[in-house]
Amino acid sequence: LRWPAEPVARWLTTVPLVGDAIDIGCGSGRHVRLLQDHTMSVRCCDISSDALNWTALATGVRGDVCDMTTLPYPDSSFDTAIAYGVFYYGTRRQHQKAVDELRRVLRPGGNAFIAERSSRDWRSRHINQSGVFRLPDHPEDGMKMDLLDHASLSALYRKFTKGNVEVTATTEATMTRPNLHWLVSVTK
Ligand SMILES: C[S@@+](CC[C@H](N)C(=O)[O-])C[C@H]1O[C@@H](n2cnc3c(N)ncnc32)[C@H](O)[C@@H]1O
Repeated sequence: LRWPAEPVARWLTTVPLVGDAIDIGCGSGRHVRLLQDHTMSVRCCDISSDALNWTALATGVRGDVCDMTTLPYPDSSFDTAIAYGVFYYGTRRQHQKAVDELRRVLRPGGNAFIAERSSRDWRSRHINQSGVFRLPDHPEDGMKMDLLDHASLSALYRKFTKGNVEVTATTEATMTRPNLHWLVSVTK
């Protein structure tokens, strides 16, 4: 993915753009590049060293190998954080840990933007009892996926002082596969 997601660009216009920023699960670095236009210091991390290599090529930022459930940063390190399309890859327990880690590394008053997937997303039809998404030939086949209804979303983010949620729906021409996401904006 090369270009930033439009909701991320929009969210960045609503928060103070100062201090230190982190992109958790940065992938190929499309939002690292965007953050570089707005903040003095940008860091990023991902579980995939391939992803970090792509990010370094695209942005010059050498990211950190990380697991979202145990971030390699001290408490209160960042003013701004993004985790776009990352936290739902795993179990509910891992999901809660990732949200708690995000909160831990944010400074008081710091802001974060997270894209979560709704339990009404089309993929929910293909998640088995072990929480694994199964659809041969789909790029996410075999991945653990934790999709959220509104109550679960609220429970996961309950420790933040302020929160705002937007629902997005997109689909392809036949409308059989609605992509439904929660765009979560929170303040520590
Ligand atoms: C769908 S991609 C999104 C990438 C990027 N945030 C973007 O919007 O382009 C999900 C990313 O999360 C990373 N990821 C998956 N599980 C992770 C984990 N446990 N800890 C850190 N990163 C993880 C993947 O390697 C991948 O780069």
